[in-house]
Amino acid sequence: MSVIRKSEARLLSVGKPRPSRDPDVPYRVYIQTFGCQMNEYDTELVCSLLQDRGFVLTPDQDQADVVLMNTCAIREHAHTRVYSHLAEWKARKQERPVVIGVLGCMAQNLKKELMEAHPVIDVLMGPDSYRQLPDLLTNALDRRERAMAVDLSEYETYESILPERKPGVNAWIAIMRGCDNFCSFCVVPYTRGRERSRSVQSIVEETHALVGQGYKQVTLLGQNVNSYRSHDADFAKLLTEVADVPGIERVRFTSPHPKDFPPTLLDVVAHHPHVCRHVHLPLQSGNDRILDLMGRSYTRNDYRTLVNEIRRRGDVALSTDIIAGFCTETDAEFLDTYELVREVDFQSAYVFKYSERKNTIAYRKFPDDVAEAVKSERVTRLVELQRGISAGKNRELMGTEVEVLVEGNAKKSSDQWMGHTERNVTVVWDKAALPLTLGDRVTIKVDDASASTLFGTPVFPVNARARSSMDRALDYGSRG
Ligand code: 5AD
Ligand code: SF4
Repeated sequence: MSVIRKSEARLLSVGKPRPSRDPDVPYRVYIQTFGCQMNEYDTELVCSLLQDRGFVLTPDQDQADVVLMNTCAIREHAHTRVYSHLAEWKARKQERPVVIGVLGCMAQNLKKELMEAHPVIDVLMGPDSYRQLPDLLTNALDRRERAMAVDLSEYETYESILPERKPGVNAWIAIMRGCDNFCSFCVVPYTRGRERSRSVQSIVEETHALVGQGYKQVTLLGQNVNSYRSHDADFAKLLTEVADVPGIERVRFTSPHPKDFPPTLLDVVAHHPHVCRHVHLPLQSGNDRILDLMGRSYTRNDYRTLVNEIRRRGDVALSTDIIAGFCTETDAEFLDTYELVREVDFQSAYVFKYSERKNTIAYRKFPDDVAEAVKSERVTRLVELQRGISAGKNRELMGTEVEVLVEGNAKKSSDQWMGHTERNVTVVWDKAALPLTLGDRVTIKVDDASASTLFGTPVFPVNARARSSMDRALDYGSRG
């Protein structure tokens, strides 16, 4: 049984009380999010918790009484960005009193060290302590108390809190938190603690509510989604139940670990009519010695076998994460990764330069001995290789028709719509070509393609998709 430990905030100092203010005027909060999708989700949770306690959100940092930074610790670059914001706020705080809160993984990882080095910070809080945030901010605002809450919990899932979501087509649902894998390069197990899952019922109920609010797609989120377990339900069961919710059109999930892919899960991904045919499958390295040092618990061949198992079941797009220049990686070992990337033929890949993280196993045990220039060169080579592969795959789609969910304005122009194919390729087209609204499904004829985007012309708003989903539903049902 897990030990339940009530997390406690530590009061670090108390200043002079603030001059009294009109208690009917709510405090305004500006929040900035760094890092991964889980952090974006946590920001939605934090917004909900704060609004429930009478704070209001503002998009204007110059109007804010409280400025929060929800931080990331995964690579050093993420830290550097926060340090530069803190320096900026140090100067601004002299002009006007504002409470500064640093939340998230960087806060959890550096704890007191961060707070002591940066007196500009009033509240420091890790990802498992957000329920205490309204109180700590109120104390900081009214009594100038500096405080820190960085206990990790074995049970906190925020299951009962409805995140304050932005209106749109996709809603994220965190189904589990934390990670027990301890890959040697990764700081997440230290910043987000042990794995814990929400109940199937709470996730399915949330999906029903999201459909009622007009969301068409949900993305199930976790550091390690396929380790999900609640009583006797595993991730395949959860995925099926969510995708069976009437009205949900697409279900995605991120990120899984290659070690947890039982055949039942592969079948759901390949055949369920509402689960997208896309798996983000972090490879990290294609060399067995490096995979072993990374503590990934699979070999190059295990990964290949899994890819074949996925592809044997159907046309499922694969994307991946790779780390270049991990401790002691030789040129020949890097080439193993390069060759495997060429062989697997990913739809897309995120390539990262290894960044040593304090407290991790690699930090304690292995030298970070690949020169920066060599790391950069390896990243560039992999990025270029993948760009060529992605461009080739996208060009093969020219002249075909793809089904897309209208998700928002294109990045470059509000005269164009943007959406994704089921296999997660971005598609852009002119709005003037056909009247559509957010959440519509449309068939796009692909006219042109780059490594990252398809460009096309809408053919008609789909109800063909309804037919194809129905056909697949029948297929799926008849497989017994
Ligand atoms: N250095 C570089 N990349 C890292 N990642 C995780 N930790 C590190 C690190 N220390 C990458 C992994 C992971 C992705 C989210 O970030 O590829 O899958
Ligand atoms: Fe980090 Fe590995 Fe857990 Fe992913 S699975 S969060 S890389 S420790």
